[in-house]
Amino acid sequence: MNSNFISRAALLGTLMASAFASVTAAAAVARDFTAEVQSEVAALRDSPTAVGRLSTLSQDSQFVFDFFNPPAGVVSGAGGHTVEASSANFPAVVGNGVAMTVGFLGPCSINTPHTHPRATEINFSANGTLRTGLLTENGARFIMNELPPGSMTVFPQGAIHFEMNDGCAPAVFVAAFNSEDPGVLQLAQRFLGLPLDIISATLGDIGVEEVEGLAHLLPDNVAFGTDECLQRCGLKRPSAQPTAQQQPRVSGNAFPDATSA
Ligand SMILES: *[C@@H]1O[C@H](CO)[C@@H](O)[C@H](O)[C@H]1NC(C)=O
Ligand SMILES: *[C@@H]1O[C@H](CO)[C@@H](O)[C@H](O)[C@H]1NC(C)=O
Repeated sequence: MNSNFISRAALLGTLMASAFASVTAAAAVARDFTAEVQSEVAALRDSPTAVGRLSTLSQDSQFVFDFFNPPAGVVSGAGGHTVEASSANFPAVVGNGVAMTVGFLGPCSINTPHTHPRATEINFSANGTLRTGLLTENGARFIMNELPPGSMTVFPQGAIHFEMNDGCAPAVFVAAFNSEDPGVLQLAQRFLGLPLDIISATLGDIGVEEVEGLAHLLPDNVAFGTDECLQRCGLKRPSAQPTAQQQPRVSGNAFPDATSA
């Protein structure tokens, strides 16, 4: 595992450096957009009435969100990307309790297991066959489905769920939420970002270096999916997928002192 881990770590450094360069270039634009959204959302939340909110958004076009050319809200990995319209980037939802995500899933890609802490989701498969899994809480039975084009499924608030494009062509899904700020918590990326000794103990004492090695391998969402699908479609998993979404290590979740010394 060690030499593999070291070469992955070197690769990670290169990927992070190039990701950082493009992020800095986009930062000035992104800051203005964020500030603009923040002041609009603050004004909308301050309005005592719905009529007042309508006049806060003075242009008709402020009620339209273009998922093909989004101003922000894109999450991408090697397998595809998702675009979210919520109170973070689309002020018109404020006061209406709704949000929407559109997913553009490449062949055999997976929207990795996650939960939405503040919303139930209904999820419509526009043109692909999606394999979905759902687990709501301890003791609940696991629910799995194939979602053919034209059908939808429900993911209750807080439930662990995943969706994989099980087809060899790109697929689009549309997810609607009953919150303007549904939030998302990606299971693997967040779990492996907890203190290393806690994760190690949780996994039966596998060792902190092994945990750190695992954390560095986690591909960004949307990731490549199952071997079965990739083989059936004649595709190859890339030898490295970007790994920039993992939980950052700060003093509270860092390598334990006793082992790093
Ligand atoms: C909706 O379902 C598709 C396919 O099942 C899945 O890929 C996607 O991640 C789901 N959307 C969200 C926002 O969870
Ligand atoms: C689904 O729609 C997207 C976007 O238009 C397209 O790129 C993709 O090829 C379509 N997939 C299928 C299976 O028709």
